[in-house]
Amino acid sequence: MKIAIDGPAGCGKSTIARMIADNLGYLYINSGNLYRAVAYLAIRETTPWQSAPRMVDLMKRHHFDYHPDGSVVVDGVSLLKELRSSEVDAIVSQVSAIPEIRHEVNKIIRQIAVSKNVVSEGRDITTVVFPDAELKIYLDASTQVRATRRFQEKLNEQTDSSKEGARVSPPSMEEIRNNIEMRDKLDKEKATGALKIAQDAEYLDTSDLTIAQVYEKVYKILMARNAHGRK
Ligand code: DC
Repeated sequence: MKIAIDGPAGCGKSTIARMIADNLGYLYINSGNLYRAVAYLAIRETTPWQSAPRMVDLMKRHHFDYHPDGSVVVDGVSLLKELRSSEVDAIVSQVSAIPEIRHEVNKIIRQIAVSKNVVSEGRDITTVVFPDAELKIYLDASTQVRATRRFQEKLNEQTDSSKEGARVSPPSMEEIRNNIEMRDKLDKEKATGALKIAQDAEYLDTSDLTIAQVYEKVYKILMARNAHGRK
């Protein structure tokens, strides 16, 4: 079975997708992390990310897989923290807008998912990567709510890193809100793989819901689908 989840940055899709995958024993596929891994490799190998042929060649020289925690395993090495660096953040949107790279990423994800039960999330999973997924969910939340959630995450990250002795100041709420608005625009206006609500997706606005409430709603939809499918 394929469960596909899309939604804008900060809507909670990674958390929900991972909870479903853990509880059902499905493979969790975070597609954004694969775009991040490609951006990370381009930086590491000083490959000009603007060159589609060079980037496709770079991707073909490496083997990609997913660890159950959502990290991307490149040539046997698990990458997670590296994918969240400011260097990767700075280029990943542009990298993910290149159609040839999207094509390769989609191929890799479909190959990894073949004959497996998966929960995959991103921006174009319900529309492009798995258009035949048995369950499609579009998670949404207001810009203000998503910015507040990200701000809280950054505060938590700062608490963790100051425990490790690092000194980093978190971005302001305004910076985070501006960044989310900019990312929404890029995600929705991409020439290929733009963020859209699939016609057959269940739409869930999570603005006023806790993670547990969102999970419960998604789980109920899933159970209803399964019961219906068995009739
Ligand atoms: O969800 P994220 O921020 O980790 O995603 C990283 C980048 O990849 C972001 O710019 C959106 C893009 N992306 C995409 O274009 N298509 C996907 N299916 C997933 C992510």
